[in-house]
Order: sequence, then structure tokens, then C-alpha cells
Amino acid sequence: MPDLPIGQFVARDGMIDLAWGHPSPELLPVDGLRRAADRVLDRYGTDALTYGYAAGPGPLIDWVCDRLGAIDDRAPAPESVLITGGNSHALDQVATLLTEPGDCVLVESPTYHLAVRILRDHPVELVPVPSDAEGLRVDALPETTAAIRRRGGRVRLLYCVPTFSNPTGVSLAPERRRQLVEFAAAEEVVIVEDDAYRELSYDGPALPSLWSLAAPGTVVRLGSFSKSLAPGLRAGYLTANADIVDRFRDGGLLDSGGGVSHFTSLMVAEFGRTGEYATNVEHLRAAYCERRDALTTALLAELGSEVEWRLPEGGYFLWIALRREVDARALLPRAEAAGTSFMPGPTFFLEPDDADGRRSLRVAFTRYPPAVLAEAARRLARAIHGSP
Ligand SMILES: Cc1ncc(COP(=O)(O)O)c(C=O)c1O
Repeated sequence: MPDLPIGQFVARDGMIDLAWGHPSPELLPVDGLRRAADRVLDRYGTDALTYGYAAGPGPLIDWVCDRLGAIDDRAPAPESVLITGGNSHALDQVATLLTEPGDCVLVESPTYHLAVRILRDHPVELVPVPSDAEGLRVDALPETTAAIRRRGGRVRLLYCVPTFSNPTGVSLAPERRRQLVEFAAAEEVVIVEDDAYRELSYDGPALPSLWSLAAPGTVVRLGSFSKSLAPGLRAGYLTANADIVDRFRDGGLLDSGGGVSHFTSLMVAEFGRTGEYATNVEHLRAAYCERRDALTTALLAELGSEVEWRLPEGGYFLWIALRREVDARALLPRAEAAGTSFMPGPTFFLEPDDADGRRSLRVAFTRYPPAVLAEAARRLARAIHGSP
């Protein structure tokens, strides 16, 4: 019988797979986390191995408050923080605890396709809101919400990735951030701000989070250690008004199991306390920035004016628009035959029609070193040009 797999990523022989938004294996800090685990056991002993406090262990909450004070416009108070099992877990909990069956959830379009899968596990209706080169089209919100209300619907949440978006890499423009939080406060819509990529900024600091700009109670911001440290830890946090944090803390899941990822949360706190987390983030920024530049340089050399993009100032992804009439879904098998893979644009739309994302490709520049990314660009160019 074949061994059961350990990881999510399935490598295919000879394939440079840019479809997956995964970190580079050699950039995962195995030794540092091993030492952190040892120190956690020395320092906390059995307290590290028992059920944890429902909101998450104090040392991590304290450290998250400090860290956000350094990388965002404002630090939360400890009672505004809840430790999560990462953004997927947090989004599922948000949908469980903050929506009623039949509620409408507005979703930025295009968006992180697996967030859509999580939301679709809940009895809510998803309604797309378009975006452009400056992020979510906040000007489209009044009409979208009014139309939902006219038919008796209730708009409860708005899910978006405003900073270094998955899939486009774009960040919501500063003025739109302010307009968005004002709109949400006035309309009593809770913004679910997926802030997974804040730490990975390559050309200067990330813009202030929606959470930092908003009136209390308007935004639930989801932060993850998957991208800035290691996804296998299943650890993250959310920041929200204390009454929302209390609802999560007092919900059935945490009441039964205690704080999620208790042991790994203490490891993250330990890694943070010693300064290793900050060093790790600096290292990731330098490596991923180099990879972003290597990929875009190679794509320009191979494809020149046949492709265009907005250079992502952070995150994992480049969103490539093809200038010629090529359907990304039809291109995919040709690219895979040439030895590289990507995610076709329509994947990131709720119900893609023929135009949505048809000529767009999402590629992750994080998993492979620069020389391999350059080879991927050559293979992609061969596929686009139709040569074997
Ligand atoms: C926007 C976004 N949100 C959430 C996730 C998943 O986050 P986590 O690993 O914290 O569950 C990803 C991973 O690719 C992502 O891109």
C-alpha cells in the first residue's frame, strides 16, 4: 500500500508548479522552531501541553499586540485579540458565529477562491463586488447593498483581501480604505479583512489595515502566521471589538477544545519574544522580493508587450493579463505540457462568465528560487506561442 501523504502540495515530476500559494520549503525555519519548542517545554512544562485558555495563550496575545503596534497603524488592546488556527479557521468561525441562515455576504471579486469554498460551507448567499486596479470598487457598494435590501435580504459581512491581495497582489487605495470603513459603519456591515500578507511587503510598509482605520465593531481582521512563519503551525489571530472576541471565546468550539493550536501558539510567542520572528520576516521579504523581480524580469524578456500586470508590492502572487486573445483555461494544459502550471483567472470569480478573468493567470513567485522561476517563464512563453 502506498504511504499516505504528509503534506498538501503534490509535486509532479518535472513540473514547475506556480499554481499553489505555498512557501518555499527551504525558507521554513526548522531549526529555529525546534529550539522554540524546546524552550516552550522548559519554560511552561505541562502548561504547554494541557488545554489552553480559550482566547489563546497570554504570551502570544501580548506579543501580537506589540507586533501589530510595529507593523500596523495601531496596536490592539489584549481583549481585542483572539488566537486562531489561521485565517481559514477564523473565517469559518466568523461565518458560524456572525451570520444567520440566508444572510448575504459581499465578496470582493476576484477573490481568494478557497475563502469562497469556506463561506459556501455555510447557508449564506454570496454576492460579488467588482474591483479594479485600485482594489475593491467601493463606489459599487451602495447599489449592490440597496438591491439586496429591496428584495428583503440582509447584508451581514463583506469579505476582502485589501492588502497584497490574493489573487491580484493589489492593495486597496488609501482613500478607498477610508470610504469602505465609513460605508460599512453606516450600513452596519461587518468587514472581514483577510490580512494574511501584511508582513510580506517588498517596497515599503503595508498600508494601514481597515481594522486600524475603522470605528470599533466595524472590522474583524484576520492575521495569519502561515505566510510569515509556517503554515503547518496552523496559527493566526484576529483583532476585533472586544464583544466580538468574547463571542468567539465563549463559543462552543473553544469552550470544548480550549484555545486552538495551544502548543504551537506558545512556540510562535517564543519565536517572537527572542526577535527570531522579525529576523525571519526580513529574510522572507528579501527572498520573495528577489523572486518576484526574477519572475517579472524573465517574463518581460520572454513575452514583452504580450503581457501586463501591476507589480505586486507584497504578498505571494503576480496576476498576469495576456494581451492577445488567449483563454487562460485553454492555455493551462499547454503550459503543463511545457512543464509549468498556474491558476487560470476565472477560478477567482464567484460565477465566472466568459469575460471574467479569462485572459488572466495567477502565478505564485514564492515556492521556487530565481533560476527556476526564469525557466518557468520560458516554458510559459513556449505555451503561449504554441511551440512545443
Ligand atoms: C488570502 C488568504 N487567506 C487565507 C489563506 C489561508 O490562510 P491560513 O493558512 O492562515 O488558513 C490564504 C492562503 O493562501 C490566503 O491567500
